[in-house]
Amino acid sequence: MRALVVSDLHANSEALKSVMARVRRKKFDTVICLGDFVGYGAQPNQVLDVMRTIKGRKLYIRGNHDRVASGLDDAAGFNHAAKAAALWTRDHLSPRNRSFLRDLTVGPLIHKGVMLCHGSPYDEDEYVFNVHHAAQVLALFTQPFILFGHTHLPAVFAVDEMDNVNGFAVRGDATVKLDPRFRYLINPGSVGQPRDRIPHASFVIFDSDKRTAQFFRTEYDVKKTQTSILKAGLPDVLAHRLQFGT
Ligand SMILES: [Fe+2]
Repeated sequence: MRALVVSDLHANSEALKSVMARVRRKKFDTVICLGDFVGYGAQPNQVLDVMRTIKGRKLYIRGNHDRVASGLDDAAGFNHAAKAAALWTRDHLSPRNRSFLRDLTVGPLIHKGVMLCHGSPYDEDEYVFNVHHAAQVLALFTQPFILFGHTHLPAVFAVDEMDNVNGFAVRGDATVKLDPRFRYLINPGSVGQPRDRIPHASFVIFDSDKRTAQFFRTEYDVKKTQTSILKAGLPDVLAHRLQFGT
């Protein structure tokens, strides 16, 4: 499988457009989205229309914001800004996009030895930030590759044959070679709301045969996205943080 892997799009259509422009000449047979299509941003329908109609095999799973924004769950665990955005999204989704979100597969989803999850394989809402936590996940599952999102931080964790786990954050464009003796947890970072102080959209092209994960960052029209958030009357903080990648 050679897949475009995106996650945490967060209703940021400008960021998604920039990703699509960047991959226009790149080859892949599958599009993977690890959840949080919506929430925070004010362009949910634009993002969902693109992701619903994109050509090729699609492996999509639900994120916690998709669950709340589509009305499947309340916003009890959300902070003020996230809650405001989720409730706003509920009121602005087209009927078609609402049912698309409601019908998304709940992770983990396994396809040809690749496991997809939003937070962790056993909890959509769990954040895997560090090596200790990654080690727990890698001890519980046997797939050679687990792709996850939710933290908005591009990162790779690897476990070797001796059960030693290492990990690193990926900053900027980079090709990571995936050793056949290791098993991996890979986070492509966030398209729509990066949090590693780099404001550019993050994504990965993952090749399970060639065993590579190519990380990319791409600039987009942050101002346009910010304007759409402020015009929608969503909390200012959701617009401001995009500028700083926080
Ligand atoms: Fe997210």
